[in-house]
Amino acid sequence: MNIILLGPPGAGKGTQASRLEADRGMVQLSTGDMLRAAVKAGTPVGLKAKAVMEAGELVSDEIVSGIIDDRLGGLSADQGTIFDGYPRTAPQAESLDTILDAHGRKLDHVIELSVDEDALVERITGRFSCANCGANYHDKFKLPAVEGTCDVCGHHEFKRRPDDNEETVRTRMAEYRAKTAPILPLYEARGIVSRVDGMADIEHVTAAIEAILDGKG
Ligand code: AP5
Ligand code: MG
Ligand code: ZN
Repeated sequence: MNIILLGPPGAGKGTQASRLEADRGMVQLSTGDMLRAAVKAGTPVGLKAKAVMEAGELVSDEIVSGIIDDRLGGLSADQGTIFDGYPRTAPQAESLDTILDAHGRKLDHVIELSVDEDALVERITGRFSCANCGANYHDKFKLPAVEGTCDVCGHHEFKRRPDDNEETVRTRMAEYRAKTAPILPLYEARGIVSRVDGMADIEHVTAAIEAILDGKG
């Protein structure tokens, strides 16, 4: 199964993709995570992407479609995929069709996480993660059980994304409205879009997505 999680910054795409990965053995393909890894490693892609990401704007379609194509090439045919943060523009949606086709895959579901924009700013500016294993936390919604200690790996250092400040979040949201939301009708015309209330508790959102994947949505 191949699915897209679509929604504005902070909608919960990454949170839900990692839960589906753990529950169902699907593979999370987050272009944001891949680009951040490239920036950290200082690769040519990372050097191009760094300033663009810090400004909250979109990296070029060629770059992100190229990394998705590469990643799919490394998966076996029986591994399901969750696209998290890709596609984000009409040209990317077109490329994804071509890429999936080339890898003998087809798109089963596009799941839109619908959310209230004001709540998103709070979610994003409170977000932090373990510097060692990447486990996600939130100042208000999900603190580690023991203060200053990662629940998953016991590490004591945490980090925040450089693009998680209010001003950049507003730019990221404007980019979503202008360039990403307009790709929905394309998938609606194919009858594969489902909507999930992204304002519900994390567990409820997961349950709603799993119901869709199980054909009970
Ligand atoms: P990317 O990394 O994709 O960021 P984004 O789309 O802005 O989304 P986020 O990762 O911020 O949010 P999310 O939906 O994953 O939410 P999360 O689960 O973390 O992209 C970053 C940048 O990379 C882009 O701006 C662009 O520059 C570049 N880029 C990436 N892909 C690209 C592409 N295809 N084309 C061009 N450029 C690209 O949740 C947020 C917080 O809320 C967390 O703290 C979480 O714990 C909490 N939370 C989640 N769900 C709930 C809930 N139900 N209730 C309460 N809290 C919740
Ligand atoms: Mg994310
Ligand atoms: Zn950790």
